[in-house]
Amino acid sequence: MINVAVIGSSGAIGNAFLEAYIADPQVQKIYSFSKSKITIKDKRVVHINIDITDEKSIENAALSVKGNLLDQIIIATGLLHNQSFGPEKSIKDIKKDNFTEIFSVNTIGPALIGKFFIPLLNKKERSHMAFLSARVGSISDNRLGGWYSYRASKSALNQIIKNFSIETKRTNSKAIIIGLQPGTVKSNLSQPFQKNVKEGNMFSPQDSVSALMKVINKTTEGDSGNLIGWDGETINP
Ligand SMILES: NC(=O)c1ccc[n+]([C@@H]2O[C@H](COP(=O)([O-])OP(=O)(O)OC[C@H]3O[C@@H](n4cnc5c(N)ncnc54)[C@H](OP(=O)(O)O)[C@@H]3O)[C@@H](O)[C@H]2O)c1
Repeated sequence: MINVAVIGSSGAIGNAFLEAYIADPQVQKIYSFSKSKITIKDKRVVHINIDITDEKSIENAALSVKGNLLDQIIIATGLLHNQSFGPEKSIKDIKKDNFTEIFSVNTIGPALIGKFFIPLLNKKERSHMAFLSARVGSISDNRLGGWYSYRASKSALNQIIKNFSIETKRTNSKAIIIGLQPGTVKSNLSQPFQKNVKEGNMFSPQDSVSALMKVINKTTEGDSGNLIGWDGETINP
């Protein structure tokens, strides 16, 4: 039996992870954290609100796990656009406040989640912490340019994941900490860009999560620190 946590359970991918854990009888307890409220009718689920731009809120979320240890933690939060701005198409679109907001959600929030949640990972059995990142954070794979703040926030997140893996190895050799590239997935985040995606190249959140679950469960300690795609491919930084 395992205990799990999903941070960002109100999002398309986060909610599909939550549903997949609810459907798994091996899961004993599920901690669900999200900014907007969601309704869950399963006695194994403990739901708590979180704002990952607020350090105290993340600390309180971790405290709510109390004496339990976690076997899998999924971080499925992320921001690409909101009502007031979208990703930068050009240098002239770079704006300090928008850049700061993107980094706050995509990079600093996940770094703080690591600070408070890595100590909760099971040390006796293999445990996993998986951050939803993105292939566009790969510098060597950048062919199109644009999306300055989102790309940079995910490159920085990938670096933080690598750092987490190096430091955590010293205190919890069974912990595997990875970034995940979910493919192009139907969600609020991808909605404005879905028209550019070829028919058949867009995953439902459920199909993406089913592939990502297989990837997570196949990883070994040697994969810790890497960004891995839905197809199991390790993506170069
Ligand atoms: N969809 C894709 O094609 C795609 C491709 C590559 C990578 N990704 C990555 O996958 C992850 C999940 O994306 P998605 O497609 O599922 O998007 P989504 O449906 O828009 O979900 C984003 C989630 O982030 C949460 N969030 C944003 N700001 C937050 C904050 N301050 N505190 C707490 N939660 C916050 C949202 O919460 P509320 O809704 O409650 O505000 C929502 O649950 C992201 O990291 C994204 O970069 C997605």
